[in-house]
Amino acid sequence: MSKFQLKWGILATGGIAETFARDLWPSPEIRGVKDIEHVVVAAASSSSADRAQKCLKEVRAPESAKAYGSYKELVNDPNVDIIYVATPHSHHYQNAMLCLEAGKNVLCEKAFTTNAAQTELLIKKAKEKNVFLMEAVWTRYFPLSIYVREIITSGKIGTVYRTTADLSNADPPETSFDDSHRMVNPDLAGGALLDLGIYALTWVFQTLYHTQKNPQPPSSVLSALKKYRTGADEQTSILLTFPREEGGDAHGIATTGLRTASDPDKKGSAGPAIRVQGSKGEIQVFPPAYRPTKTKLVLHDGTVEEREFPQPGPDKSKGWKNGFGGDWNPDGEGHGMFWEADECAYALRDGRKEGQYESLQESLVIMKVMDEVRKQNNLVYPEKIETTEYPVDL
Ligand SMILES: NC(=O)c1ccc[n+]([C@@H]2O[C@H](COP(=O)([O-])OP(=O)(O)OC[C@H]3O[C@@H](n4cnc5c(N)ncnc54)[C@H](OP(=O)(O)O)[C@@H]3O)[C@@H](O)[C@H]2O)c1
Repeated sequence: MSKFQLKWGILATGGIAETFARDLWPSPEIRGVKDIEHVVVAAASSSSADRAQKCLKEVRAPESAKAYGSYKELVNDPNVDIIYVATPHSHHYQNAMLCLEAGKNVLCEKAFTTNAAQTELLIKKAKEKNVFLMEAVWTRYFPLSIYVREIITSGKIGTVYRTTADLSNADPPETSFDDSHRMVNPDLAGGALLDLGIYALTWVFQTLYHTQKNPQPPSSVLSALKKYRTGADEQTSILLTFPREEGGDAHGIATTGLRTASDPDKKGSAGPAIRVQGSKGEIQVFPPAYRPTKTKLVLHDGTVEEREFPQPGPDKSKGWKNGFGGDWNPDGEGHGMFWEADECAYALRDGRKEGQYESLQESLVIMKVMDEVRKQNNLVYPEKIETTEYPVDL
């Protein structure tokens, strides 16, 4: 049987662009995926073709891969099937629109855009061009996430009443980031909410919203937000009410911050970062919320089941490793971004135009919640990055 090959173009050459592209190198067979394969055929940097070339080398792309010094050249490369947009959130709308206008399929990093109006227009454009579009919330595609959702839909924890989810990284912003860094810079839509809070919201949504036959948007959104000296948010707490098909309203509590830690000793001693609680017990997920590898099912009848979900990778003799932001995983261990890449390959092979574990509609509902949180707390970004106008030079 011949394999379906997906040809990737990488737009931007920063931290996550390299992590993602590196994860495309190991054979999918390592994770039991036998009918598709990935190849990086091009990368583009907004600063120089040399930078793109360096990135291609770093991620072990084939010698034939093209290096471009502008995003425009990349979107016009007929050899590219799909483009992974890996710029800061502030730039996603302009960059993804550039790809869609050129008729390219798109996987766009989280947060999808700066606001819901921009997401809505990307969805509209993808429909008009009849191309695939997906928000790159990689965690949704992990076997661990599939397992957690099945625990809920199978009724194992009974009627679901509440999910609490936290993603907080206690690296004090003053000492970790220059004020111009994308994590805290309002010009780049920085702050905890769009960067980390999206994962806490992902867990609340994939357990309380996605697990329903006819999911309804939250009937109420309450929030508190504390600002950093730059004007971006440094701590945000959100309380959502989900009308559930069984058992009435459930509560979703999503918290995020730059001064507290989900996992203070980085050994999991503080316990789960996510708890989904129902009438028969709960399913727990251990930190970090973006790349969890451990769950624990605790039921009222005394059942306790721990499960590990290590990220597969090539054997150590291949001299391959991956990681993010200077933190390397053990040699040969995958990062886990390949699960979402596999989903893109299956969707394109089968003619689907969106991801199966987070529809475009769900991404839009989450963007609307983040808009509401910002509105309640008077958090606005510069007009240049909130605008729905296109094209705008950023
Ligand atoms: N899924 C995950 O686990 C994960 C982890 C981290 C980040 N992310 C997301 O990925 C995106 C990028 O994050 P990152 O950590 O990779 O950021 P980064 O290291 O700062 O890289 C961003 C890249 O975007 C390009 N860029 C274009 N215009 C820019 C501008 N005005 N300022 C800064 N960069 C600009 C640059 O590449 P060129 O100039 O070469 O084009 C730059 O290297 C964000 O949306 C973030 O939320 C996801």
